[in-house]
Amino acid sequence: MTYKKALQHPVFKIISQSADALSLDAYVIGGFVRDYLLERGNAKDIDIVAIGSGIELAQHVADNLPSKPKVQVFKTYGTAMLKHEDIEIEFVGARKESYTEDSRNPVVENGTLKDDQNRRDFTINALAIALNKSNFGQLLDPFNGVSDLDNGIIRTPLNPDITYSDDPLRMMRAIRFATQLNFTIEDDSSKAISKNKERINIITKERVVTELNKILESDKPSIGFIHLEKTGLLDYILPELTALKGVEDIEGQRHKDNFYHTLEVVDNICKTTDNLWLRWAALLHDIGKAPTKRFYKRIGWTFHGHEFVGSKMVYKLFKRLKMPLNDKMKFVQKMVFMSSRPIVLASKVTDSAVRRLVFDAGDNVDDLMILCEADITTKNPKKFKKYHNNFKIVRDKIVEVEERDHVRNFQPPVTGEEIMKTFNLKPSKEIGIIKEAIKEAILDGEIPNEYDAAFELMLKKGKALGLKTS
Ligand code: CTP
Repeated sequence: MTYKKALQHPVFKIISQSADALSLDAYVIGGFVRDYLLERGNAKDIDIVAIGSGIELAQHVADNLPSKPKVQVFKTYGTAMLKHEDIEIEFVGARKESYTEDSRNPVVENGTLKDDQNRRDFTINALAIALNKSNFGQLLDPFNGVSDLDNGIIRTPLNPDITYSDDPLRMMRAIRFATQLNFTIEDDSSKAISKNKERINIITKERVVTELNKILESDKPSIGFIHLEKTGLLDYILPELTALKGVEDIEGQRHKDNFYHTLEVVDNICKTTDNLWLRWAALLHDIGKAPTKRFYKRIGWTFHGHEFVGSKMVYKLFKRLKMPLNDKMKFVQKMVFMSSRPIVLASKVTDSAVRRLVFDAGDNVDDLMILCEADITTKNPKKFKKYHNNFKIVRDKIVEVEERDHVRNFQPPVTGEEIMKTFNLKPSKEIGIIKEAIKEAILDGEIPNEYDAAFELMLKKGKALGLKTS
């Protein structure tokens, strides 16, 4: 069978001609071939392996492309990259590698195609299609990668112990591919991951986070987190989550397993949103529960203040994983901090409580509602329906209150300057007291969010504080 159809893009013809002109063999390998066979859409990354110099081949290809792209050479790795239209093409000479104990940087020697395929991570990523004229379109599949693709199996070409120990990032990649593709990880691979889990420590945090993000961006991230937990990797990466595991029972009072509950919430939220940071918020929304868990004879289990503690933990976790400490982190913190607010509200929906929710959540109120709806994981169909109905009421009320009171991105109707002018004041604490009183009155619904009413209240408050108008 020939796979010429995979090579329809004109760039393959040019690579083919260049390879023949340089008398070297060239193959397209890895993700491009895998995704073609999986019909996962047109890949934008093409990996080419040359039996010889990948850098020379890249240069030749660039010279023959009409756009004459610049070739970026990475001498230390013996690789070269060029951009053609919206595609990135990476060239590498076939390699035989051995890794040292304490680093991912391999000692590299030239090798055959088979050597190169041997050192790749998974059988499904070791598939190659030949590009020279004589064998254009021929598939080279020495480890039955096609059959693993058909059966949905993640397997390493070599003994998994060697593959994972050589490059421990592959443990994360195995779990990430299993999640994205809904594949099973072959048993020996799982065992090897458990055995080598500690070596994840030699991988940079940024790379680990890239894989975590890809797991979170999948349709059903719980697949990945269950693998991470079962293999023991999660303890090294996100111990805050493993701390949520387990159910305790004291005198017949039990609490739910907050780890599996969290995974359900994450899977739920993925059905509604593609926002990676909202997905992170779902993953972390209960992390404050481990350190705040208490048992009281009369009331049972409590997690008092877990939202506040959790939001503080978000900062530490992001910092440890070298994730951005910017507005994305603040958004996740805010979502965690506010994650119980709509639930409390849902039992009694009042105008003033909704107004306060919209005021505090601002533009994130819709995201917060998505998180809280995803948080409903009760298996009791009556309760499930009731909670969803209550949230529907809250959502309607949010629209109603917002149309009337405009408290989202609240701007005080009377400014501090106007207060100063009216009472002939220098900057002082009285201004803050009056502003706060106006804001509270608006949020409580005592006065509308309008200038006249606020001005009147200002006069009243000023008088009560013993201030005189100028
Ligand atoms: N590879 C590997 N070990 C790694 C990373 C990559 O063996 N730690 C090999 C695999 O053969 C892989 C190819 O290099 O297919 C390209 O890697 P990369 O572009 O990172 O991944 P893709 O497989 O293309 O998949 P994705 O784009 O989804 O990351």
